[in-house]
Amino acid sequence: MSDRRISGFKPTGPLQLGNYAGAIRPLVLGQDRPTVAFVADLHALTVPHDPERLRALTLQVAGLLLASGLDPRRTILYRQSDLAAHYELHYLLECAASYGEVHRMIQFKEKGGGSGTRLSLLTYPVLMAADILLHDIAEVPVGRDQRQHVELTRDLALRFNERHGPVFTVPRATHPAIAARLGDLADPTAKMGKTNAATNGVLFLLDPPDVLRRKIMRAVTDAGTEVAYDPERKPGVSNLLELLATCTNGRPEQLAPDYPRYGALKTAVADAVIALLEPIQRRYHELGTDDIEQALAQGAEQAAERADATVRRVKAAMGLTSGRPAPSSTPETPRTAPARH
Ligand code: AMP
Ligand code: TRP
Repeated sequence: MSDRRISGFKPTGPLQLGNYAGAIRPLVLGQDRPTVAFVADLHALTVPHDPERLRALTLQVAGLLLASGLDPRRTILYRQSDLAAHYELHYLLECAASYGEVHRMIQFKEKGGGSGTRLSLLTYPVLMAADILLHDIAEVPVGRDQRQHVELTRDLALRFNERHGPVFTVPRATHPAIAARLGDLADPTAKMGKTNAATNGVLFLLDPPDVLRRKIMRAVTDAGTEVAYDPERKPGVSNLLELLATCTNGRPEQLAPDYPRYGALKTAVADAVIALLEPIQRRYHELGTDDIEQALAQGAEQAAERADATVRRVKAAMGLTSGRPAPSSTPETPRTAPARH
């Protein structure tokens, strides 16, 4: 049985603390099990994008994963678009998915709908299923917002296996016990997100310490003065307690009594966030572009073997190949038609 884990990160904006709490930290802490991490650059093409910015953010995301403790000697880290198997399995899985089930997915409901909406936004969850199913994954450590996508992945895997035999491992989502959906500091009922229009409530991993402190000291709190962990009635304070617990390995309900007032809690959160991010930022700035590119290239090579084998299995199960092993090499056959003069 596989105990492999995978998580992906879209380079649509600079990484923020929600990414760290929901996915990066669990991924890094569990590297004693086989782990795969990738920059989901193909997913970033589902909304209008700027090629230069995408290129820069892809390297930044990969660099921050390394700086956060992802160890490329143990964990495979690669850029999604470098692995042809993603595109191949995406199409093959589209033939197992239905319009109705992907149409219901949250991303499309929130961002899609207009006639200019990219078609890839509709099929995005199928690409995500392909990302996971390529690698014989048991667990997908992600924030709570991704649960629906992993459920679809499970449905597709089970359906495919039922139709064509036991081809896929059926994965499940895992979420951290706290901060599985970190709230925006300026609006704690909304998710902290890297593409939020107003960024006063978003703590970016590369924000300088004074910016982090200012955003935290201005965080929205709740009526009353008591510091208590009660996400229903005190969403602002509870969110700050979850943030503090993430940074200090504590538990929000146990931390609450240590703080007599909101101000003291905010100061403690600011200190803890800055202490957490300082070494990550330092390691990030020490990395050169070449280090990052090298790690990604090596990761793509490592990932290709298993991913290509999965695609071969899927193709055979769907009746696309003879079922016999492909000829190992045919050097005499030209790959492209000779030019005509
Ligand atoms: P994304 O930024 O959408 O590529 O998300 C990358 C990972 O971070 C996914 O596993 C998300 O669920 C997770 N994530 C993003 N924002 C948050 C948040 N505010 N709280 C917890 N997890 C999050
Ligand atoms: N869809 C995820 C997000 O928006 C990113 C992602 C793409 C992902 N493929 C994945 C996460 C596979 C986990 C596994 O955050």
